[in-house]
Amino acid sequence: MRILITGGAGYIGSHTAKMLKEQGHDLLVYDNLSTGHAEAVQGLPLVQGDIADGERLAKVIKDYEITDVIHFAASSIVGESMQNPRKYYLNNVVGTISLLNTLVACKVERIVFSSTAAVYGEPGNNSENGLIEGFVTAGVTEIAKQFATAGQTEPLVLNEDCPLKPTSVYGQTKLIIENALKDYSRAYGLKYISLRYFNACGADDSGEIGEDHQPETHLIPLVLQTALGQRDKIVIFGDDYPTRDGTCIRDYIHVNDLAQAHLLAVGYLREGNASEIFNLGNGEGFSVKEIIRTAEEVVGRVIPAEVGARRSGDPAVLVASSEKAKKLLGWKPQYSELEKMIVTAWKWHQNHPNGYSQK
Ligand code: UFG
Repeated sequence: MRILITGGAGYIGSHTAKMLKEQGHDLLVYDNLSTGHAEAVQGLPLVQGDIADGERLAKVIKDYEITDVIHFAASSIVGESMQNPRKYYLNNVVGTISLLNTLVACKVERIVFSSTAAVYGEPGNNSENGLIEGFVTAGVTEIAKQFATAGQTEPLVLNEDCPLKPTSVYGQTKLIIENALKDYSRAYGLKYISLRYFNACGADDSGEIGEDHQPETHLIPLVLQTALGQRDKIVIFGDDYPTRDGTCIRDYIHVNDLAQAHLLAVGYLREGNASEIFNLGNGEGFSVKEIIRTAEEVVGRVIPAEVGARRSGDPAVLVASSEKAKKLLGWKPQYSELEKMIVTAWKWHQNHPNGYSQK
């Protein structure tokens, strides 16, 4: 039993590879290193290759006796996907379909797929009567208030059955693959788990691997780079959203909690269970201002911030219900406190102020 990890030199892939290794799994990282970092693989077996290179991939699968795949390799910047859709359709759709065809040809029967909260689009946008469509109730009281004007009095959290109406090319490409997986599963017997991540953050406790995107667009690394003096200020993208402090609310989930879910997903399929789709989030939302405030507490200094214009395509609130993953996979996130998550990210940024390229 050996697991192929496509994109295993990337942010979430490298944390998953490390955890799989620590828990005694055999694995092989397969990454074209276009955005991933060889250093992030930390000496684990790595083959440099592209998912669209079917011949090479088939040989690797045969040579290494691969039985399972965790597929991270993708382009994943929402804004870029709107500017350059061709890149996203090529990498995320054409590349992944090629990968699936190779898996079917090589008789690999199980795949865990990196999907995203971006498949839901803008919750509430779909409504004709002003009510928020596509939410379930859950115990997140503060979020309830924000939707009181829309006729809702209960807290609102997205579950897996909510409408899928991606507003970005990125979300669209991930949804296309979720649909393809259903068809491949029905027709060719490929079993899959799609994991819809909310806002991945944090770093391994070791401080040795972490988040290093070029360019960086995510909130927490940008806030911490500002704390390090690498940026003058963090720009808050809009403070006129219908939320408690006017800034967008997101569900931040620690990268090692995501990694744990992948291990459980592989085990779930190996036990012979049916294909499934799971949300992965904490069920609690934090605003941009709350992130900055908590980061200031963690780093012990003021982080200059300024309110700017809204970023196009940003939904006001995205919070997950992950009850299904907890129930079926037995997933137990370990980093539910925001401060704990930011502490791990801060350790990484202090140890590697310039990411993997220069220490
Ligand atoms: N933000 C700022 N200033 C910045 C950067 C971000 O105010 O300089 C705000 C954004 O407007 C948003 C929040 O911080 O409200 C989080 O933004 P990120 O860019 O960190 O993350 P997103 O929520 O846009 O997107 C992330 C992943 C996507 C995934 C999505 C699902 O990058 O791949 O979460 O929720 F689809």
